[in-house]
Amino acid sequence: MTDYEENKSINKPFTLFNNETGQSIEIPILSGTEGPNVLDIRSLYKETGMFTYDPGFTSTASCESSITYIDGNKGILRHRGYDINDLATNSDFLEVCYLLLHGDLPSPTDKIKFENVISNHTMLHEQIMDLYTGFRRDAHPMAIMVGVVGALSAFYHDSTDFSDINQRMIACHRLIGKIATIGAMAYKYSVGQPFVHPRNELSYVENFLHMTFSVPTEKYRLNPIISKAMDRFFILHADHEQNASTSTVRLAGSSGANPFACIAAGIASLWGPAHGGANEAVIKMLEEIKDIKNIPEFLNKAKDKNDPFRLMGFGHRVYKNYDPRANVMKKSAHLVLEELNMLDDPLLKIALELEKIALQDTYFIEKKLYPNVDFYSGIFLKSLGFPTSMFTVLFAIGRTVGWVSQWKEMIEDPINKIGRPRQLYKGKNSRNYQNVDSRDKRSIFQWLWKK
Ligand code: ACO
Repeated sequence: MTDYEENKSINKPFTLFNNETGQSIEIPILSGTEGPNVLDIRSLYKETGMFTYDPGFTSTASCESSITYIDGNKGILRHRGYDINDLATNSDFLEVCYLLLHGDLPSPTDKIKFENVISNHTMLHEQIMDLYTGFRRDAHPMAIMVGVVGALSAFYHDSTDFSDINQRMIACHRLIGKIATIGAMAYKYSVGQPFVHPRNELSYVENFLHMTFSVPTEKYRLNPIISKAMDRFFILHADHEQNASTSTVRLAGSSGANPFACIAAGIASLWGPAHGGANEAVIKMLEEIKDIKNIPEFLNKAKDKNDPFRLMGFGHRVYKNYDPRANVMKKSAHLVLEELNMLDDPLLKIALELEKIALQDTYFIEKKLYPNVDFYSGIFLKSLGFPTSMFTVLFAIGRTVGWVSQWKEMIEDPINKIGRPRQLYKGKNSRNYQNVDSRDKRSIFQWLWKK
């Protein structure tokens, strides 16, 4: 008996009844290890001729996964069973990468082996570096990331046959290893400094900080508190189940596309302000608020239905409670600001006050809008000297392991099918073609030409 058959027999099916036709069908219910059961509607169209309608996939489980578990109401996030707080406090980023990719924490020997494997993939092909010069200096670093990561597909032909487990793994290792180098170089390019090559005797995070902040004229001094906090930042962003960018990676990969191109698609999806771009938007918002006395005005704008303004860094599709990553991020931000003697940072003061007021406001309480991971990550990254345009790049570096683990899981899933949603068509019915001379003479562009 397969897991699927077994699940079907545990739960009583859900019966759907159509009052008009008297037709009824039974929909099997599947259970996961934890979390809500799901209605298995795979045969719904065949049996009823109807699709389901779920814009934004608010009620749709698109796949089976054993990587990450979230309980949004309780504010729980676990990777492979381990609580995010436990991992962020006790583990390190590469160990979490191993955990996500392989399902368990590494043995002491495997931990060292994995660290060596990833450091051996940190360098970029010399010609990839030439690609950077094709971008304008003021290009958004996320635009560079999308381009350069997509271009990796043209360089590493020996890791694109993903029917081969070894090639799949090499592609995953390459992406985890190279993404930090690509991100650091995007930064160097934007500030007009020479690229700094990776140094493999450093840890993943130290290496990233070295490639980002060292200059030929002086040695970059690594600060263990900052390295630890940056490592924690990457852990907090490592995976978050089927969010927009991960679903994009899975959808792109479901057609059998090149893995590097799939990750580039994920980066593009992450860029938006409703997703990974929110950390950048939070800083812009705090700077716009300028003073604690202006907070009520901004809160009123956020609550006004006729105003598109939203409190950035607040609210989450899944968390209807405090985002567990936000707690860790807030502590990290404090530690780093303390280390850098920046605890009187005006943006931190505004953020703390804004959080306090919003959490007591009925609008935010009723809608269950709590700070998400992005609320404090912007302040943290800004204090380290990153320009706001780099914030989402740093998110992408941390998330790459999540994307590749989910991509790998999808490829290895026996029920892997090309992702192909359907639609509720609201367009014109069938009509006959008219020659251009016999069409309505009015131009729909008239308003444009007039301007
Ligand atoms: N400020 C003010 N009101 C908000 C906010 C906010 N930040 N977020 C949601 N709401 C309101 C909406 O207006 C809506 O009100 P309504 O029911 O009266 O229409 C209600 O709360 C539900 O919001 P939705 O947009 O339907 O919720 P959804 O789950 O689709 O959106 C999202 C989640 C996109 C994160 C949203 O909360 C948001 O835009 N937040 C700000 C951007 C942000 O911080 N994004 C980062 C997400 S975390 C991440 O990607 C790592």
